[in-house]
Amino acid sequence: MTVLEIITITAGLGGLVALAGVAVLSRLRTLRAMVVLVVVVAVLATLAGVVAGIFKMAIEGSARDTVLGVVAVGGLVGLAVAAMLARRVVAESGRLAQAVRASDYVAPQGLPAELQVIADALEESYARERSLEGARRELVAWVSHDLRTPLAGMRAMVEALEDGVVTDPATVSRYHAQIRVEVERLSAMVDDLFELSRIHAGTLKLSRARVGLADLVADTIDQTEPLARAKGVRLAVSAEPIPIEADAGALGRALGNLVVNAIRYTPSDGVVELRAFQDEDAVCVSVRDACGGIPEKDLERVFDVAFRGESARTPGKDGGAGLGLAIAQGIVEAHQGAIGVVNDGPGCRFDIRLPLRG
Ligand SMILES: Nc1ncnc2c1ncn2[C@@H]1O[C@H](COP(=O)(O)OP(=O)(O)OP(=O)(O)O)[C@@H](O)[C@H]1O
Ligand SMILES: [Mg+2]
Repeated sequence: MTVLEIITITAGLGGLVALAGVAVLSRLRTLRAMVVLVVVVAVLATLAGVVAGIFKMAIEGSARDTVLGVVAVGGLVGLAVAAMLARRVVAESGRLAQAVRASDYVAPQGLPAELQVIADALEESYARERSLEGARRELVAWVSHDLRTPLAGMRAMVEALEDGVVTDPATVSRYHAQIRVEVERLSAMVDDLFELSRIHAGTLKLSRARVGLADLVADTIDQTEPLARAKGVRLAVSAEPIPIEADAGALGRALGNLVVNAIRYTPSDGVVELRAFQDEDAVCVSVRDACGGIPEKDLERVFDVAFRGESARTPGKDGGAGLGLAIAQGIVEAHQGAIGVVNDGPGCRFDIRLPLRG
């Protein structure tokens, strides 16, 4: 009846109790039951030691009664505290559950730290979801408006041609040309919407390859030169031949959107400046125009889906749907880059910054 024997028996019995406790614990589904179980296991493990002592007759007579009494009282106190703790945990998580079930979730305050983290994270994600949902609804409303207006015009022209209301050759060919322009604009818009939905759904797959930055810029210039010439805007270009790992098609599209905007908002005789260069461990492409500056309050919003500067939402001759910059941003971010805008000189400057790989 050495102390070692008592400790060994206590450890053995305690281990059994713990094993049984763990087995039961995995079946429990409520926090309340789990907390109570923890206390019961602790009390039983202690009792195991006492029982071992009694068996080995290390504890006898009044000492035995005293120890049993102490363990019993300790167990009861433990159970009472456990019950209180369980109640508190259940009540606090109940508060969280109730807030989640409410139609308008607001994070409850003063929860235990772990629950508070969950509650706050939920609030953030609900807010994000709400604003996404709002943006989506706005987009659908605006886009359907922007689709409907040219469609109505086209229908009128087609009907006029069909009914023979318009017969003089000049008007007929003007109508045909106008319809073709509208069809092209609408299909470009549908392409943009498709691209944007892929970006938002996270299914935009980049096929990266090694491309020269200067080549990318040259391609963009080739595509936008006719527009610039028609508008009387001069394109000034300087590009360093830096090799980058990028999806040339996607990045070219992002850059094209910036240049088209710059040409669109620069008055004739103005200059649009395109620069591509290396800045430490990043490559930068900047597009500077002579638009006269973007109002401060709009600077943050130009990348929003369907944001257009003018308050009137009737598409003008070359008015867009407000998708170009959102697409450019999505593509640049898919390349782990960043895009920004500042007012600079006679207009504004859009900067794309891409990390230089390897
Ligand atoms: N270079 C620029 N200079 C001045 N304002 C600009 C410039 N680029 C964009 N903006 C403003 O930001 C808005 C959003 O631009 P974005 O390219 O997203 O749409 P959009 O050009 O109107 O239409 P889309 O690109 O879909 O044809 C524009 O309507 C315009 O008000
Ligand atoms: Mg645009």
